[in-house]
Amino acid sequence: METQRLTRRQVLVGGVVGMASLAAPREALRAGSPQTPPAAAAGTLKIGGDLVVNRLGFGAMRITGPGIWGEPKDVAEARRVLRRAVELGVDFIDTADAYGPEVSERLIAEALHPYPQGLVIATKGGFVRPGPDQWVPDGHPEHLREACEASLKRLRLSRIDLYQFHRIDPKVPLEDSIGELARLQKEGKIRHVGVSNFNLAELARARRVTRVVSVQNRYNIADRSSADVLALCEHDGLAFIPWAPIARGSSNTLEGSAASKALDAIAHVHGVSVYQVAIAWLLATPVMLPIPGTSSVAHLEEDVAAARIKLSESELAAIG
Ligand SMILES: NC(=O)c1ccc[n+]([C@@H]2O[C@H](COP(=O)([O-])OP(=O)(O)OC[C@H]3O[C@@H](n4cnc5c(N)ncnc54)[C@H](OP(=O)(O)O)[C@@H]3O)[C@@H](O)[C@H]2O)c1
Repeated sequence: METQRLTRRQVLVGGVVGMASLAAPREALRAGSPQTPPAAAAGTLKIGGDLVVNRLGFGAMRITGPGIWGEPKDVAEARRVLRRAVELGVDFIDTADAYGPEVSERLIAEALHPYPQGLVIATKGGFVRPGPDQWVPDGHPEHLREACEASLKRLRLSRIDLYQFHRIDPKVPLEDSIGELARLQKEGKIRHVGVSNFNLAELARARRVTRVVSVQNRYNIADRSSADVLALCEHDGLAFIPWAPIARGSSNTLEGSAASKALDAIAHVHGVSVYQVAIAWLLATPVMLPIPGTSSVAHLEEDVAAARIKLSESELAAIG
């Protein structure tokens, strides 16, 4: 059988909207419009009852230097990646003050501000970065306040649509950390509160402090340890944002997973890459908002093209 990979060319043919779309109204970036861009093929998700986004986002951690530290090797390409993501209909960008640190948020503002209508930038606080590959949790209320206010400045926003608590600091009760985010929300600096790297019990505790609208945990075909949290998100209508969606930055890889053979076979039938199948597999769950991260336009186009792949019931069963 003749198969075709969803390539850069197909992405272009399938729905280019050009740089003019940076200022296009939100409706034009949705499925059904003549200008329908590739990311819209994933359908939409409503976060917190009012933020409607295309269900394939972009993770902006990879537009920094090695060890998620400093400037990216190719800063011009990093800016192109951000602009291209928006052209392709991505309207949810995940970042954090800790990426770089500061570099990812600064590049987002430089490349995309003034932001197109409807673009949701979700950032996070709760880490300090002493050096490359070093991540030290800091969940003290004073730190979170300072971090949030610095992110607002860097991102040139008056309010952050989704502010996520990056990871619990074992030295600080999570109620204190989440409580400070709730105060920032009351002050109008945060629209919605999300959490990251939370288990079920921690999520329940956070939800007793304030309304939590999303959870961002590692989840992919090779690592489903957050399946219970995902199930709760499905039940309660929280957005689930899987990080490491194609498991490239993880010790559990797609290649080493039990589903590896099935993945290869499905990728062959669709004429796509296993990474695209891994993203399509995530998209088969309606509360899922994958945020594949990349520093290259070619990989971005490949990842976003996965929004058009619909896996059959038997393919989903084969992946397990
Ligand atoms: N909340 C948290 O604690 C947490 C932790 C980690 C990440 N995150 C967020 O989640 C996002 C995604 O996580 P991740 O970046 O670790 O994801 P990932 O699934 O590990 O994938 C990223 C890696 O895959 C490569 N890649 C991307 N598309 C590819 C393609 N089509 N073909 C081949 N390689 C490809 C990228 O390299 P190239 O640059 O060469 O494309 C990058 O090294 C991050 O960007 C960040 O926003 C959150």
